[in-house]
Amino acid sequence: MKATARAFANVALAKYWGKADVRENLPAVPSLSLTLDPLATTTTVAFDGALKGDEATLNGEIAAGRPLARIVKLLDDVRAEAGVSSFARVETNNSFPTAAGLASSASGFAALACAARVAAGLPHDPRRASITARRASASAARSIYGGFVILPAGHKGERELAAMPLFAADAWDLRVVAAVVAEGEKDVSSTRGMELSAQTSPYYDGWVGQAPITFERVLEGVRARDLELTGSAMEASTFAMHACAMASEPSLVYFRPATLAVYETVRALRKRGTGAWATSDAGPHVKVFCEAADVANVEAALRETPGVLRTILARPGGPATVEAE
Ligand code: DP6
Repeated sequence: MKATARAFANVALAKYWGKADVRENLPAVPSLSLTLDPLATTTTVAFDGALKGDEATLNGEIAAGRPLARIVKLLDDVRAEAGVSSFARVETNNSFPTAAGLASSASGFAALACAARVAAGLPHDPRRASITARRASASAARSIYGGFVILPAGHKGERELAAMPLFAADAWDLRVVAAVVAEGEKDVSSTRGMELSAQTSPYYDGWVGQAPITFERVLEGVRARDLELTGSAMEASTFAMHACAMASEPSLVYFRPATLAVYETVRALRKRGTGAWATSDAGPHVKVFCEAADVANVEAALRETPGVLRTILARPGGPATVEAE
């Protein structure tokens, strides 16, 4: 009744922002992501009849409150599916410093879904694991697969929505340089940010209407392995999502001054002939896409940008893996 799984984080090129069904955690828009090696989470789950409740540690610290509640909810889903009644001990560790703020819930819930299912005696089935992960955090559904991954929009009441692999990690040898611009401060969570956007942003309906069109542009770019097409559509998705969030009340401004400075650097790189395009999730950091040959150039430019604390280099990563113990 024990299993260990590892999953990589992912970054969305076409963003998921907004829910078609809050209870079932179904996205209102389709998204397309790239799985990122080496940003990994490793999670061990052990069901144990002697436990009086679920227990979890995150990087050695005991989880409580909302983080624990989200873990328990996923475990409840798995217990119901597998017909298991005992509680579980969960131990989860990130391969990258959590203080970097890059610790997305995606790698965490993907690894937890895979480990919990196998520990509960279910066979490892990526589609089923993606459904379990999606119910906990929709972006986590994509981290079950390697390379380029699609999560379609859901429809109210749907139960079985899973992500779908588009191209494996070796299909396009891109690089992603993450520029870390702030240490470990807590932002408004994506879940809360989406709720606030849907309830108060005058641009929310505009975002939901436009996102599928931008998603198609990203998809066309990735299919053609065309970095300019992919990158410009990715930036359009990023700024449309952030504009929608910024117009919420109270406003949701995830950018810091250094965030905008990085976008300036990326524009300057392009002017000088280096193909670089950037994106940000619900936080201040920026992930810059470029060809492998341009990495040194891009890293140097980012490190010289005021407010950039450090950079982390990532490449297309593989699927989540799991082993029973
Ligand atoms: C901005 O998957 O964290 O990173 O489903 O509520 O857990 P929940 O949200 P989450 O949202 C990720 C939003 C994003 C864009 C993206 O990854 O597509």
